[in-house]
Amino acid sequence: FEVSVDPTASDKGTYPYYMLKEIDEQPNVMRKLSAKYLDQVGQPVITPALVEKLRDSDRIYIVGAGTSYHAGLVGKAQLEKLTGIPTEVHVASEFAYETPLLSEKPFFIFLSQSGETADSRQVLVNVNRQNLPSLTITNVANSTLSRESDFTLLLEAGPEISVASTKAYTAQIALEAILAKAVGEAKGVAAAQTFDLKGQLAVVAQGMQSIVDEKNEIDQIAQDYFVQANQAFYIGRGIDYTVSLEAALKLKEISYVHAEGFASGELKHGTIALIEPGTPVIGIITQAGTAGLTRSNLEETAARGAKTLSIVRQGLARPDDTFVIPDVDELLAPLLSVIPAQLLAYYTSLNKGLNVDLPRNLAKSVTVE
Ligand code: AGP
Repeated sequence: FEVSVDPTASDKGTYPYYMLKEIDEQPNVMRKLSAKYLDQVGQPVITPALVEKLRDSDRIYIVGAGTSYHAGLVGKAQLEKLTGIPTEVHVASEFAYETPLLSEKPFFIFLSQSGETADSRQVLVNVNRQNLPSLTITNVANSTLSRESDFTLLLEAGPEISVASTKAYTAQIALEAILAKAVGEAKGVAAAQTFDLKGQLAVVAQGMQSIVDEKNEIDQIAQDYFVQANQAFYIGRGIDYTVSLEAALKLKEISYVHAEGFASGELKHGTIALIEPGTPVIGIITQAGTAGLTRSNLEETAARGAKTLSIVRQGLARPDDTFVIPDVDELLAPLLSVIPAQLLAYYTSLNKGLNVDLPRNLAKSVTVE
């Protein structure tokens, strides 16, 4: 692959790496999205034709790769809860060649920071061939996916230069929530009508700021737990499981620590055999319905010698939790729980003396299938 980083596209100022700058920009990206896509009283400002098409669909298919796929997994939970429309999420490179059975009135959402990912584009080509409606959520106006789909929503995250995606992930999740609220309201779904998204995004922006202000502590934890590790696990259930996938990807791609995101209840069905004395295991706990279960799964790993850490939403926290993230609606919790994980990956890579922005074997935009 060719590495396509344009160092002139944005200035990293006093930051040693773009990734840290991009992590720090997230509170502002939340504010920008809220200002652009929600009006003064918190009503979504989304093209009515797009809302209607989605409202009338009987199933939503989200397609993406890597981090964008992970953002899609969060979007599924938001769309199903706020619109009642069944939603499937697919890895683009799989969908293109193993097309699932489609519903009668499908609607496709493509998630892509760059708007240029070849695997996603291949799916869009097939979707267009069948004349099916589509939306691209991207950070790049006029990108290929944006040009070739029926609708585009821009992430407004500013250029993302670091190969490891951070602010695009959180922007995608916030925008999916706004879209879900718009469609849910159009369908008269109570959960959408009562969802104070504008207020919640303000809480998120503040909460993100409070986490990125804790950099020194996170740096220290990275040194104590991850720099010497040769494997690590993030575990969670439901939405927390989807964040664990993203957290593990971040650690793998820039620090070369083999990491897995795992459904915490599934560990005991085999993978717990990999836990050795000293293996870092991080539990993500933000959902009231599954908090107790994930905690016991985390304790099971501690009993086998794991060094455990936790990222926990305030209302569910205990005194010995490692990271306590502010209370926010459960559908938006990934916007906060992912931040310590992004920073842990960053500091692990930095302390190992690696090139954080340009990890080996990777390109920012993968334009081959
Ligand atoms: C994320 O950190 C990755 N480098 C990668 O998984 C990326 O998200 C993926 O290649 C998809 O890119 P896109 O969002 O530009 O389509």
